[in-house]
Amino acid sequence: MEVSNKYITIKTHIEGAPKETDFELKTAAITLSVEPGSNDVIVKSLYVSIDPYQLNRMKSYSSSHKATVAAAPITPAEAIDAFGVAKVVVSGNPEFQKDELVVGSISWGEYKLVKGGDRLRKLDPMGFPLSYHAGILGFSGLTAYAGFFEICKPKKGEKVFVSAASGSVGNLVGQYAKLFGCYVVGSAGSKEKIALLKEKLGFDDAFNYKEETDLKATLKRYFPEGIDIYFDNVGAEMQEAAVANMNIFGRVAVCGIISEYTNSGRRAAPEMLDIVYKRIRIQGFLSVDHFDVYGDFISTTCDHLRAGKIHPLEDISSGVESIPSAFIGLFQGHNVGKKMVQIAEE
Ligand SMILES: NC(=O)c1ccc[n+]([C@@H]2O[C@H](COP(=O)([O-])OP(=O)(O)OC[C@H]3O[C@@H](n4cnc5c(N)ncnc54)[C@H](OP(=O)(O)O)[C@@H]3O)[C@@H](O)[C@H]2O)c1
Repeated sequence: MEVSNKYITIKTHIEGAPKETDFELKTAAITLSVEPGSNDVIVKSLYVSIDPYQLNRMKSYSSSHKATVAAAPITPAEAIDAFGVAKVVVSGNPEFQKDELVVGSISWGEYKLVKGGDRLRKLDPMGFPLSYHAGILGFSGLTAYAGFFEICKPKKGEKVFVSAASGSVGNLVGQYAKLFGCYVVGSAGSKEKIALLKEKLGFDDAFNYKEETDLKATLKRYFPEGIDIYFDNVGAEMQEAAVANMNIFGRVAVCGIISEYTNSGRRAAPEMLDIVYKRIRIQGFLSVDHFDVYGDFISTTCDHLRAGKIHPLEDISSGVESIPSAFIGLFQGHNVGKKMVQIAEE
C-alpha cells in the first residue's frame, strides 16, 4: 500500500534567523512495506520535538565543519530527522510490532522509514500523556536533569540563575532546583513569562531581560550575595553578566547559547581574571552523554509528576505545516515551555 507523506525540508542553508521562506512542505508517496529480515521499520509521527539546535545543523558551515557541530548537518531538500513519539506502521524488525508506540529519531514529517530500527526504542507511556515523552520525559527533561545535577553539582541553599527560564529546558531546571532546595531566579522575555515563573512554577524571582539595559547591574540586584550556579541557555552578554556576579567556586553549565545561533558574530566574553580568581568552572555538556543518569531522571521526574510537585509546561501546535512557524518562534520567544508539533492523533 502507498500513502502520501508530507514533510518539511530547508530550501538552502540558513544563515541568521530562520524565516518561513527558508522552508518547504513536500509531499512524496511512501510504500508501506519493508524487506522481510531487513530490520527496517516504518513509523507514523505523533509528536515531533522542535529544538533550537536544529538551526546549527541548517547552517552552511555544518557541511564543512562536521567536527564543530554535535549533530549531523541537514542537507537542503532532504527530510529532517528529529526526536519524537511515533507509532509503528510496518515492521521488518522482531523488536518492534505493528501499532506499538516508539520514541526516538523520527522526522519533521508524517512517516519515516527507519533503517534497521536505529535510534528507536519502545515506549511505555507509564500512564502519562504521549506528549510528555517528547518533552519533560524526553531529551528536554534529561538535559535539565543531567545539566543541573551532574554538571552544576548543586548544594542545598545555593543561589541559582537560569536564563531562557520559561523555555523547555529552563523551566525544568528551575523546578528541579527549587525542589532540591536552592534559591532560583530566572530570566525570560515577556511579563507574562515572568508572572508564570513566579506564580505557577515557584521561582523565587524572575526578570524580563528585554527591559534591562545593564545585565551586570540587574544580576547584582537579584543576587546581592552572588550567584553560585548559572544554567546558561543563551550565551553572549548574559553569560558575561552572570560570570561577573558569580561567587568563588561558582559553576556555569553551558547548555546552549541560543542568542548566538542567529548571530554568528555574537560571542560571550566572560572576564578571564574573574574565572581565575573566583575559580569558576564553565562547562559545556550534551544530554546524550548522560544516559547513565537516565533511570534516576525518569524515576525522580515521574514521582514528582505523580505527586503534582513538578508542572509540565507544553506548547503544542498541530500539523506538519505548522513546523516552520513553530521552529521560527523559538528564536522569537513565542513558545512557553516545550515546543512540539502534534502530527497525528494518538
Ligand atoms: N546541551 C544539550 O544537550 C541541549 C539539549 C537541549 C537544548 N539545549 C539548549 O538549551 C537551550 C534551550 O533550549 P530549549 O529546547 O529549552 O528551547 P526553549 O528555551 O524552549 O526555546 C527557546 C527560548 O529561548 C529564548 N530566546 C530566543 N532567542 C533569544 C535571545 N536572542 N536571547 C535570549 N533568549 C532567547 C526564548 O525565550 P525568551 O522569551 O525568554 O526570549 C525562547 O522561548 C538552547 O540553547 C538549546 O540549544 C541544549
